[in-house]
Amino acid sequence: MLSKRLIAALNKQLNNELYSAYLYLSMSSYAGSIGLKGSANWFMVQYQEEMVHAMKFFSFINSRGEHVELAAVAAPPTEFPSLLGMLEQTLAHEQFITSSINELTDLALSEKDHATNIFLQWFVTEQIEEEENDRDIIGKLKLIGDNGQGLLMLDAEMAARVFVPPPTAAP
Ligand code: FEO
Repeated sequence: MLSKRLIAALNKQLNNELYSAYLYLSMSSYAGSIGLKGSANWFMVQYQEEMVHAMKFFSFINSRGEHVELAAVAAPPTEFPSLLGMLEQTLAHEQFITSSINELTDLALSEKDHATNIFLQWFVTEQIEEEENDRDIIGKLKLIGDNGQGLLMLDAEMAARVFVPPPTAAP
């Protein structure tokens, strides 16, 4: 049985994941509006992945015999400084998510809730990849600097990202 404190923390993380989805959806639209269609695709895939993360929390809470308490999702920014600025905001946001997953794991461990701890391990590993991806692109953007041709080449690379649905979500 989940403790009330853990249920509240899991619901909060579900909301964090929905906000992440909202943030990247907003970035996708903005990137498309400034002609960076590949980057718009990259952020759209990021949005889809965040919805999968949110639904993992949704399913887990329900599978433990509890119900989800959906809260308002904060509005994300609608204007961004540049692609580099968007990636820097993405990395900062993912670092916040990493710390919130770590705090949630600490709570599960302190309550000796092994099932929740095991469930959270997927997210602990996922956050390593999330931050690494952002750092890689930020590094490339810093090398590109003001070179428009380099930016378009990177944008073409970002167009190749494909959303891979998790096995349980496949039809
Ligand atoms: Fe769901 Fe990007 O962390």
